[in-house]
Amino acid sequence: METTLIILKPDAVQRGFVGRIVTRFEEKGLQLVGLKLTTIAKTTAETHYAPHKERPFYPGLVRFMTSGPVVVVALKGVGAIAIARNLMGATFGSKAAPGTIRGDFGVSNAYNLIHGSDSPEAAEKELGLFFKKEELLDWTPVSQEWTYDMTGPKPE
Ligand code: RTP
Ligand code: MG
Repeated sequence: METTLIILKPDAVQRGFVGRIVTRFEEKGLQLVGLKLTTIAKTTAETHYAPHKERPFYPGLVRFMTSGPVVVVALKGVGAIAIARNLMGATFGSKAAPGTIRGDFGVSNAYNLIHGSDSPEAAEKELGLFFKKEELLDWTPVSQEWTYDMTGPKPE
C-alpha cells in the first residue's frame, strides 16, 4: 500500500469544499490516515514547491499557499498516488475534465483547489514536511475486506 499527501489549498477551504473533496477520496476507497486544518509557513511552502523555484508563477504560488488555512490529508491505498492524481484532474481548472475535483469545482488555473504528490519519492518527502510521525495513524478500516479482495497474498 502507498500513502500520498494531499493539500486542500486555501481556495478550497475558503469556498467551503473541504467536506465534498474529502468525500470523493473516501467514496473511492482511499483510507484517511492523516487529516488536519493548518496554515503553511512561508519556508514550508517554498520547500514544498522548490522544484518550481525558477518558474515565473513560483512567488505567486507561495503567496497563495500561505494566504489562509489549508487542510492537509494523508491517504492510503494500493496505487494511492496515481488514483488521487486522477481524481484531482488536470492542473488547470479551465482544462480539467468534468467528474474530476478540479474539473467540477473550479475554473481558475492558479487557484486549482488541491495538491497531490506525483511520485513515491515526492510523497515520502511531502508527508514528512506536513505531518509528524505520530499524526499518521496505523489503523484498519472495517470496510477493508470489502474494498479489496484480501483473500490472496496482497490486496487485489
Ligand atoms: P500540484 O503540484 O499543486 O499538485 O499541481 P500539479 O502537479 O498538477 O501541477 P504543477 O505543474 O506541479 O504546478 C504546481 C502548481 O503551480 C501552479 N501553477 N501555475 N500559472 C501557471 O502557469 C501555473 N502552472 C502551475 C498551480 O497551482 C499548480 O497546482
Ligand atoms: Mg505538482
